[in-house]
Amino acid sequence: MKKLFAVLGDPIGHSMSPSMHNDLLSLYQIDAHYHPFKVSKEELHTAVSGLKAIGISGFNVTVPHKSSIIPFLDEIDPLALSIGAVNTVVNDNGKLTGYNTDGYGFLKGLHAYITSLSDKKVLVIGAGGAARAIYFTMAKMKPQVIDIANRTIDKAVELIEACPYDTSSKALSLEEAGEQLAEYDIVIQTTMIGMKPNISEMPISLKYLKPQSLVCDIIYNPLETQFLREAKQKGATIQNGIDMFVYQGALAFEKWTGIFPDVKRMRENVLKLLEA
Ligand code: ATR
Repeated sequence: MKKLFAVLGDPIGHSMSPSMHNDLLSLYQIDAHYHPFKVSKEELHTAVSGLKAIGISGFNVTVPHKSSIIPFLDEIDPLALSIGAVNTVVNDNGKLTGYNTDGYGFLKGLHAYITSLSDKKVLVIGAGGAARAIYFTMAKMKPQVIDIANRTIDKAVELIEACPYDTSSKALSLEEAGEQLAEYDIVIQTTMIGMKPNISEMPISLKYLKPQSLVCDIIYNPLETQFLREAKQKGATIQNGIDMFVYQGALAFEKWTGIFPDVKRMRENVLKLLEA
């Protein structure tokens, strides 16, 4: 029988996941379909029960349901539980288990540039949901330092206090982060600042950026934010948000099918969708 995969979100029309996953399902000759479902907050519980009842094989969860879905699942992976957000659900014989592949997706993308984090000083800009997934997953890998800068400094403090792993971390204002930028080897921009249509905005000044640093922005629309453009001009290596998006999808696909897919093909597919 044909299997069903899905993504639940609201809005969901813009999602690139259906195209990315349906291409992989046909590439690996898996008799299945991946469908986007627009589900309101009020209908989330009913939607999850319905998907379970019809025997869905697995699904992704996106904004605004990544946290609110947790009580409706049977089991939550410990890392996803500490992050407090699920983006991938696996149906194992009627038991729905929630995982978070966002943070590992980011780390997998980082491997192309960085082999070891143990001697690296990392700055995370932002303290929202995306920052939380990246911060907790990276903290597990024990970088030398992993600091958080945020407009609302209390949220950065909360994030550091909630981290389940031992870290050398401090909370900074955005201004302080700009002034201390020369200390960091890796800078990760996790806010929506600089995303279309506000493409000229930047979260912090890059005046003191080390030219040898790696600067990542989780935004992929535009592919090169003002933040990345300026970092490149300073001589830094830059990485946009495509890798994180593609790898979180690849890790989800692997959980559902046991196949770690062709990420180069996934990236090409996503780039075509963004150009369209
Ligand atoms: P996501 O789940 O995508 O990470 P979020 O949880 O709403 O989104 O978090 C948004 C992040 O972007 C936060 O760190 C937020 O800062 P605050 O905690 O101070 O709200 C940051 N952010 C959003 N708009 C911002 C702006 N105009 N200037 C500075 N920071 C901003």
